[in-house]
Amino acid sequence: MRRASLEWNRRVRRVGFVPTMGALHRGHVSLIERARRENDVVVASIFVNPVQFGPTEDYAKYPRPLAKDAALCRKAGVDVLFLPSAKEMYPPEHDTWVTVERTSGPLCGEFRPGHFRGVATVVLKLFNLVQPTRAYFGLKDYQQVRVVQRMAADLNLPVKIVPCPTVREADGLALSSRNAYLSPDERRAAARVPAALRAAEQVIKSSSGVSVERVRAAAKAELVRIPGAKVQYIEVVDPETLAPLRRVRGEALVALAVYVGKTRLIDNIVVKRRT
Ligand code: PAF
Repeated sequence: MRRASLEWNRRVRRVGFVPTMGALHRGHVSLIERARRENDVVVASIFVNPVQFGPTEDYAKYPRPLAKDAALCRKAGVDVLFLPSAKEMYPPEHDTWVTVERTSGPLCGEFRPGHFRGVATVVLKLFNLVQPTRAYFGLKDYQQVRVVQRMAADLNLPVKIVPCPTVREADGLALSSRNAYLSPDERRAAARVPAALRAAEQVIKSSSGVSVERVRAAAKAELVRIPGAKVQYIEVVDPETLAPLRRVRGEALVALAVYVGKTRLIDNIVVKRRT
């Protein structure tokens, strides 16, 4: 990987990079297609990163349909598919970690200790190997995008982070590799998650300075009606810093995590109030 990236650098090639954990869907394809349009070379990686999973999380059962993923990458225009092994990425002596402190704290960070440390560490390692000009991340994982942007700015990384819109199913459910865990009944229930974000949006847009409690209550009222759903969090925060808000005056990020059965789903919306 390093030999190829050094050669592209020497020939002043723009390298677009899409890091993934595989089990690719249309959301990933949209990142690859954008990378294809904006660069000379497109690299995708598939690496199910063990250090971003908690001890009781789904690392072992995370789907790994490699042949299907490789075909999809080829069709979408990937030039190089990088498949490092866990042994190469984390040899026993590995002892360096990247912590993006404040940005990793709230939202998912509160419920998945160590998750963003694992993400930031692997993303920095992948950036060092691939040396991309631009790297593409989906906004469904909004906090991840902010963590990676913060890391890139703070560590002066020579890469442009490109946040890309969430891709949704026809019924509104945000695409995620973990949707594959849902049973047909759970899948139908999960389609009702975005309604919670729309309810929050409506409240925010109804008047200036609305309290965060009212916004959360509106979203929660939708989620509790979903059979088999268990809310982990609904938060309303500053979209830049992820700091909590008390009232919404300008822009707000409404982010939530909810279990449908045993599957944890996340979704979010950035609401801009017209002033
Ligand atoms: O979003 C993902 O798939 C992963 O968190 C990433 C960015 C590939 C790091 O493992």
